[in-house]
Amino acid sequence: MQVKRLAVFVSGTGSNFLAVCDAIEKENIPAKIALVISSSAKALALNRAAQKGISTAVVDRATYPEQEQRQDAILSLLKDYNIDYCILAGYLAIVGPRIIQEYRNRIINIHPSLIPSFCGQGYYGKRVHQAVLDYGAKISGATVHFVDEGTDTGPIILQKSVKVQQDDTAETLAARVLKVEHELLPKAVDLLCRGKLQVVGRRVIINQEGVLS
Ligand code: GRF
Repeated sequence: MQVKRLAVFVSGTGSNFLAVCDAIEKENIPAKIALVISSSAKALALNRAAQKGISTAVVDRATYPEQEQRQDAILSLLKDYNIDYCILAGYLAIVGPRIIQEYRNRIINIHPSLIPSFCGQGYYGKRVHQAVLDYGAKISGATVHFVDEGTDTGPIILQKSVKVQQDDTAETLAARVLKVEHELLPKAVDLLCRGKLQVVGRRVIINQEGVLS
């Protein structure tokens, strides 16, 4: 099977990036992380990528104040590195419409709630988990989805729930959801790179061992 070239997009600590890295090494996923793109020069994920010998690039507002410039910079990186798929792993910036169009159904994102709850504009980081607690929801979780022009609105690939505990804080809930993210994102990358995902309208059909589920 042809090895797919990935660009992983990060903004922070990069634990999801590491989870994908580990899974590629240990679980024989036909993929190579060719590039890590960060929206912040301060992201710890950049050091982690460099330690693994992976090329990194920063496309931030300081260097590229206009969104058009950031899109141009990212598109030319994706071309230069011959990228097949983009993996948004804790990426807090907006992916521009030209990138989405060019990479239709080839960009996936991990979100730390069960979409369509607690997602969309303003729902990122601790805010998501605080909103779950404030609402009194008994279940949260993680979602991997394709990226479309909306915020967290693209077709859902995988979801897994996490029970909210009575004494949870945003921090404790975030930590349990993050563990699930580390499980789901590599799984979705594996399915994507093996060509097992088919988008039909809003639904993602997963073709496992010849069986559609
Ligand atoms: C994760 O919850 C991710 O879903 C979110 O940012 C958090 C940290 O991700 N959007 P990471 O450690 O940088 O992968």
